[in-house]
Amino acid sequence: MTVQKTQVAIIGGGPSGLLLSQLLHRKGIDSIVLERQSRGYVLGRIRAGVLEHGFVNLMREAGCGERMDAEGEVHEGFYIAHQGRNDRIDLEKYADGATVMVYGQTEVTRDLYAARDAMDGVVIHEAANVQPHDLKSDSPYVTYEKDGSEHRIDCDFIVGADGFHGVSRKSIPGDVLKEYEKVYPFGWLGILSETKPVSPELIYARHERGFALCSMRSQVLSRYYIQVPLTDKPEDWSDDAFWAELKSRLPEDVAAGLETGPSIEKSIAPLRSFVAEPMRYGNLFLAGDAAHIVPPTGAKGLNSAASDIYYLYHGFMDHYLNGDSAGLDGYSEKALARVWKAERFSWWMTNLLHLFPDAQEVDQRLQCTDLDYLFSSDAAQASLAENYVGLPY
Ligand code: APR
Ligand code: PHB
Repeated sequence: MTVQKTQVAIIGGGPSGLLLSQLLHRKGIDSIVLERQSRGYVLGRIRAGVLEHGFVNLMREAGCGERMDAEGEVHEGFYIAHQGRNDRIDLEKYADGATVMVYGQTEVTRDLYAARDAMDGVVIHEAANVQPHDLKSDSPYVTYEKDGSEHRIDCDFIVGADGFHGVSRKSIPGDVLKEYEKVYPFGWLGILSETKPVSPELIYARHERGFALCSMRSQVLSRYYIQVPLTDKPEDWSDDAFWAELKSRLPEDVAAGLETGPSIEKSIAPLRSFVAEPMRYGNLFLAGDAAHIVPPTGAKGLNSAASDIYYLYHGFMDHYLNGDSAGLDGYSEKALARVWKAERFSWWMTNLLHLFPDAQEVDQRLQCTDLDYLFSSDAAQASLAENYVGLPY
């Protein structure tokens, strides 16, 4: 067994783990990232693409903002299509000049890997059977297997940034951990196509046939979604059937301008609201999808992971650079307060825009009234806008 030593052992090389290790490295705090998959596998995952302004700043602080600033698109608003109308939410106006950046999570991850490489950051891929140990002691450690041998990392702290299916959350005893969960009765069928986006800004559509979303990765790469029953499989949907269904859920003039083409990716994602409390157990800290999941309506998944990393980064800086443990001690409470607000927002947007299989006429009327109210009230638009651009850390 080889033994390595570091200050912070990070389980999971997704955006959460990579961003934290990059931020810490720049402050002279040492970490090792353990990732179960290969780098190619991690970079092959297609996820959301709307970054809150706080996340954009954190990427810049990590020294990873250059390509994002050059290639990402600043969006000052987005549309909600409903009842035949296409109404715009003016983010810049209602959120005090704040905006969002459209830049894919795949690109964020690629930039973080490039930055880790440039600083000789240690990211160990294909680490099997990763296990955290002695979480309640001052000398926790992590074991893993690679290339047929056993390894051990001694550390001060362990960060569990290993996603929803990771090992970290499961290592917290059941009588300590409380999990809150809601599974929605539909999924999102998404496609990526090398076509010009139908609209310069995102369109979220509420329609009697179900929800639809027109998004993008760039001016030559579009991302579209339609709400489908959970029983559907991607193979059930030909490209032609997808485009026809998407068009039927959009206002006529928008549908008329939709450029279609072959899909280069097609998948179905279930929708879930999930929070695990607390986010700290002894010297283990959970971050990102390991601790919470939101339905994608509102694009809060990656952004909520980023706020955890912000609090952890500041907590570790206070601890290592100023000898002050208050930030780490308050981590769970602080992170969860913001997480729950993102959960509320995503749940609200999901309820506002989707067709629920058991919805009665009264539910449909209330959804439409919620939308009418939204676009008749500056206060309601301001509330939506401040949540969409991201609440303060
Ligand atoms: N050991 C090591 N690594 C693991 C283990 C394990 N037992 N289990 C999972 N992992 C890795 C996964 O392979 C993955 O690369 O942990 C990583 C977790 O990454 P993500 O699932 O992307 O989670 P996170 O980094 O928190 O990113 C936030 O926001 O928009 C959402 O779901 C979206 O990925 C996004 C997330
Ligand atoms: C995406 O582009 O994948 C996307 C955008 C906004 C969302 C969800 C997903 O709310």
